[in-house]
Amino acid sequence: MKTQILKPTEENILLAKEKILNSQVVAIPTETVYGLAANAFDDAAVKNIFTIKGRPMDNPLIVHICDENMLNEIVKDFSPTAKKLAEVFWPGPLTMVLPKSDKVSDSITCGLSTVAVRMPSDLAALKLIRTCAVPIAAPSANLSGKPSPTSASHVMADLNGKIEIILDGGECEVGLESTVVNVLEDEVEILRPGKIAIDDFLKVVSKVKLDDGVFSKQSEDKKVKSPGMKYTHYSPEANVIMVKATLSEFCKYVSKNADEKTGVLVFENEKSLFNIPCFTYGNEFSPDEQATRLFSALREIDENSLGTIFARVPKKDGVGLAVYNRLLRACGFEIITLNDVVVVGLTGQTGSGKTTLCTEFEKKGAAVINCDLVAREVITLPDVIEKLVDNFGEEILDGEQINRKALAKLVFTNEENMIFLNHLMYPPIVKHINKRIKSLKAQGYKYIVLDAPTLFESGANMLCDVIVSVVSDEALRLDRIMIRDNMTKEAALERIKAQKTSDFYTSRADYVIENDKGIDKFLEQTAVVVDKIIQ
Ligand code: TXA
Ligand code: MG
Repeated sequence: MKTQILKPTEENILLAKEKILNSQVVAIPTETVYGLAANAFDDAAVKNIFTIKGRPMDNPLIVHICDENMLNEIVKDFSPTAKKLAEVFWPGPLTMVLPKSDKVSDSITCGLSTVAVRMPSDLAALKLIRTCAVPIAAPSANLSGKPSPTSASHVMADLNGKIEIILDGGECEVGLESTVVNVLEDEVEILRPGKIAIDDFLKVVSKVKLDDGVFSKQSEDKKVKSPGMKYTHYSPEANVIMVKATLSEFCKYVSKNADEKTGVLVFENEKSLFNIPCFTYGNEFSPDEQATRLFSALREIDENSLGTIFARVPKKDGVGLAVYNRLLRACGFEIITLNDVVVVGLTGQTGSGKTTLCTEFEKKGAAVINCDLVAREVITLPDVIEKLVDNFGEEILDGEQINRKALAKLVFTNEENMIFLNHLMYPPIVKHINKRIKSLKAQGYKYIVLDAPTLFESGANMLCDVIVSVVSDEALRLDRIMIRDNMTKEAALERIKAQKTSDFYTSRADYVIENDKGIDKFLEQTAVVVDKIIQ
């Protein structure tokens, strides 16, 4: 059989319809991943899906619909909570498990009394369902055990010669399969996390539960709520191991444990740090990007016949939970934790409110390292003083020590001098911060906060597990600096000009706190972030 990749034009959608209504199986794009589509009311076609994919016979399929009429054909009962969820999230990446009608056969549900239903938002998918005028059963269009396909070429790699048509809708927008939920009264139970995340559900229902299968391996003979969750799935050829550590520890661990068949799976912004095969899955601070990239990255890994892949661990907020869940499955639930202490990097512009935030962390038992103070210590080290005098001359000396004001004058007015100073100072500063972290760990602190205005510039971000940026409006910062440091407007403006933009901080943070709307709002946001980090 020849497999063709076709654009979802009017004509090709009609061609796909003809195939589907003639018991054939066709690959289609959706906003999550590509699906392997058949007429849900055609038993022979549905069985064919299982054969083509090599799918275990006890793993039921999702039925895709395009309107309420189709929904009423396949479900027996549509509760008020389900209705509310549909209103908010359909069409979109949400699958609800609902009581099935008699029209839905056991070959779809594998004997369960429920059916999983979803209305996709991808326009080509919706159009195809509408044109076929039957509900469409469709699992992800990969061979069982491979990552779900997020492009037509992924489908081709798995199913070339097994199906006639792949409709090519380009790269999938979400990149991970839909969120699958059980709907209870005013509550959802997440069976498989996805783009629609806990916080999204909490806007519609009062309670959200996570099924055990999200974080732990379910035994294959156990009766689980969502059969798909008991299979490892997404399992690359290489042995993928997640290593939970700060970036700096991760690098050390990799260089100690790598052999010639080892690679890494890291965030986009980290690839320059490795000189072994390196695969990336999006920016560290963009869970959405990680979601769209993860499955492609796992497929790329497969093309490189490697033995072991050490992977960086994504954050579990929002769609990050789904990214984490899929990677955990790719790892066969193998995760190495190098420390159980959380290092929080706290940064932002001068005058944005970092000190207040530090106090809130301290109230919860965290230790704070003031990195400006560390810098002041470093500048008293004899070898640092020697190099500074070599470059700037004796005029910066005050007795044996550096006259910081004189030095500041030289660097704030001359960019080259500033660069020299930073290059000289940052490495020993980071080394000293690291020493402090170790000593605080030894004292038993579980949370350590780095109060670090130049967290990223110095590279101290590599020591952190989580990063919080505090930003605020320029005019407000100006006022704060003038009062706090007793400065003229001109001097304060000079200081602000030397700082990075808010965007610099927000794009590199796990959490952003905006300090523009008064102390109450600031403390409110602070409490939420501190609670999320300190658990
Ligand atoms: O985004 C998606 O959901 C994609 C696209 C194509 O729509 N489809 C997809 O299908 O991921 P599949 O078959 O790969 O995953 C369906 C998941 C499986 O984990 C399955 O066990 C679960 O949904 N499921 C299906 N019917 C169920 C039911 N009645 N009760 C509980 N879980 C069910
Ligand atoms: Mg699948």
